[in-house]
Amino acid sequence: MQVLGLESSCDETGVAIYDIDHGLIGDALHSQIDLHRLYGGVVPELASRDHIRRLTPLVRQVLSEAGLSLQQLDGIAYTSGPGLAGALMTGAMYARSLAFGLSLPAVEVHHMEGHLLAPLLGADPPEFPFVCLLVSGGHTLLVRVDAVGRYQVLGESVDDAAGEAFDKTAKLLGLPYPGGPELARLADSGDPQRFDFPRPMTDRPGLDFSFSGLKTAAITQYQRLGELQEDDATRASIAASFQRALVETLRIKCDRALAATQLNRLVVSGGVSANRVLRESFRNWFEPRQVTVSYPSLAYCTDNGAMIALAGALRLAAGQSAPLGVEIRPRWSLESLLPVDSAGDGRSAP
Ligand code: KG4
Ligand code: ZN
Repeated sequence: MQVLGLESSCDETGVAIYDIDHGLIGDALHSQIDLHRLYGGVVPELASRDHIRRLTPLVRQVLSEAGLSLQQLDGIAYTSGPGLAGALMTGAMYARSLAFGLSLPAVEVHHMEGHLLAPLLGADPPEFPFVCLLVSGGHTLLVRVDAVGRYQVLGESVDDAAGEAFDKTAKLLGLPYPGGPELARLADSGDPQRFDFPRPMTDRPGLDFSFSGLKTAAITQYQRLGELQEDDATRASIAASFQRALVETLRIKCDRALAATQLNRLVVSGGVSANRVLRESFRNWFEPRQVTVSYPSLAYCTDNGAMIALAGALRLAAGQSAPLGVEIRPRWSLESLLPVDSAGDGRSAP
């Protein structure tokens, strides 16, 4: 079974083909970073228009890479939420129309399920059950994963997502969009011990996160610096201290989630899982504690079509597909998804 996957929930147009027997056989991505950089963040209307421009050339590119024609596809998967409504609509309309024209089944994919399953694209996929830390620009979630589609949300951010905190702090430090990787780069030359920032919500029980206070603490410290704001080493140390506080907060909550579930397998996925300091800190902490930590390969941490093609292929192979209407879900709970072992129409309550 060969499934075309389309991702268009934000500022990346991702298209891929996943073969249920042979894995990924085509993969292409267009990033809109250059388009949005001028504005310091994603402009939703520009994002939608650019997805429309990119989808057809990318679909042609992956078909040619896989040596397939449209007629040889067995199904189409597309991100139907969560994300920017207009951006989601472009991918959903495109996928649905293509599926209708080719008389193929189509399936709606939850963007965060795509991130959660992305490590399964690798050579050494994690075994179920595991705890998954999802850290992206839009979400920070701790999820107990018993099987594909069997998700229990253990905790989530009550305000900013981890990636959002990276991006906002970076912007206030004067770094260009997208801020997360820029802040991480600046932090490389800083001293992570120089400023003492809070590890929010670690002093009380529970698995929820809050990053807005940490962001404010970093910005307030920066504003107090006066002339030192121009000093590169000081700015780098703000970035490094912020990053260290955020990573340690994530690590403390993961530790708690593993203890609460009595599991010893952790998966970290989503854009922030590309962060080098996070990976180092998690390795140093979890390796001696016999906890296995898995990540997607760097190319599949941030948004991509491969994770959507994979998630969609697993659902289509289990007999799930969506009815003809085009529906997007800018907000959508992971817990409402159907497990893949129960065949159905792939629909669940929004
Ligand atoms: O998963 P993703 O591509 O999109 C969403 O679903 O939101 O995540 C993007 C987020 C952005 O906030 C970006 O700044 C952050 O991931 N990010 C990073 C790094 N690479 C991407 N944050 C910290 N360090 C990185 N190396
Ligand atoms: Zn994402």
